[in-house]
Amino acid sequence: MARINDNFLKLKAGYLFPEIGRRVGAYTDANPDGAAKLIKCGIGDVTEALPEAVRDAMNKAVDELGNRDTFRGYGPEQGYDFLRNAVADNYYSDLPVTADDIFISDGSKCDTGNVLDIFAANGSNKIAVTDPVYPVYVDTNVMIGNTGEGDEDGRYEGLVYLSCTAENNFVPAIPEEKVDIIYLCYPNNPTGASATREQLTAWVEYANANDAIILYDAAYEAFIQDPEVPRSIYEIEGAEKCALEFRSFSKNGGFTGVRCGFIAIPETVTGADADGNRVSIKSLWSRRTSTKFNGASYPVQRGAEAIFSDAGKAQVAALVEHYMSNAALLSEACKEIGLSVFGGENAPYVWVACPAGLTSWDMFDKMLTEANVVITPGSGFGAAGEGYFRISAFNSRENVIEVCKRLKTYLK
Ligand code: MLT
Repeated sequence: MARINDNFLKLKAGYLFPEIGRRVGAYTDANPDGAAKLIKCGIGDVTEALPEAVRDAMNKAVDELGNRDTFRGYGPEQGYDFLRNAVADNYYSDLPVTADDIFISDGSKCDTGNVLDIFAANGSNKIAVTDPVYPVYVDTNVMIGNTGEGDEDGRYEGLVYLSCTAENNFVPAIPEEKVDIIYLCYPNNPTGASATREQLTAWVEYANANDAIILYDAAYEAFIQDPEVPRSIYEIEGAEKCALEFRSFSKNGGFTGVRCGFIAIPETVTGADADGNRVSIKSLWSRRTSTKFNGASYPVQRGAEAIFSDAGKAQVAALVEHYMSNAALLSEACKEIGLSVFGGENAPYVWVACPAGLTSWDMFDKMLTEANVVITPGSGFGAAGEGYFRISAFNSRENVIEVCKRLKTYLK
């Protein structure tokens, strides 16, 4: 008899986005007219074409693979030097991160889940997550046995939930208790909030004082508009001793389908073995990567490298500008209706309080069936997300203008 990992049975039935897809499918199957008008602002999936510089680089790489003289087989598991160097030079030139600290991957969703491989499981670490939260952090901890059962709000026993509310600008207070691993995501998914230098400094000081590790997800860094907002956790002194940083080319370079991201792990970040000896996290991740991964594909890494060319930078800046202008239009429309609006200024997500009396899923249903617009219910990201909904700014301008019109029609 093959015994399964019982922890999977603790998970709520469906991951949030497939569940939304299921509900949308049921509605559109039964309502062909609604289906024809449907606009999706749910999952944060990019809509605009891959930058030309990226396409050119990928095409060239495919041609190289088509020629025996320039063909390449397995690449380095940790990523090609050309991309690791480009990342280090462009993102970390003045910061304590070297090209050797960069591990290229197939994206941040996988990285934030896979990283748990190198930490003790089954509840040995006290894990803190924000609420609301990107569901991957929670579900992957459930899968490896770091939690007990979930309650009806979807909160799992054993996790420390850090409440993010309008009162704390969606940046959690430092916990009273000692935790070992903290997930932070800024600019934030789902609330669109950003964290100030002072707030991140407090977290880094807490982590260093408590021998904790921060898993810092900066997948939305490219959308920061305010020059005062830190773009990397390593801008904070001491972060090189306690933080791993996750970055992605999905949202800036349009790589949600292409798949490429990376983790930065400075040599100075350590954890403890069972006897309390210090062990380099980077060496464990490198070891794990060599065994379980054969690297992102060569054409994809060449495409990612092209994001850092002059043409690539200009094309990515235009994409960011497009999505952030969408965010501004969506925010404005919600404000005009009188709703309380958050985010959308340094992130491509607009986080909105539901009209009085509506839960997040009520709002989802109303928008789906009346306005034929798919949004994401805030409660899908955690109990503290109840009473909110998220609108993704990843869309064409035409669709966003239409969504603004429908918001005003159906929510007035
Ligand atoms: C989201 O909509 O929250 C994102 O698309 C999730 C992701 O990037 O995996």
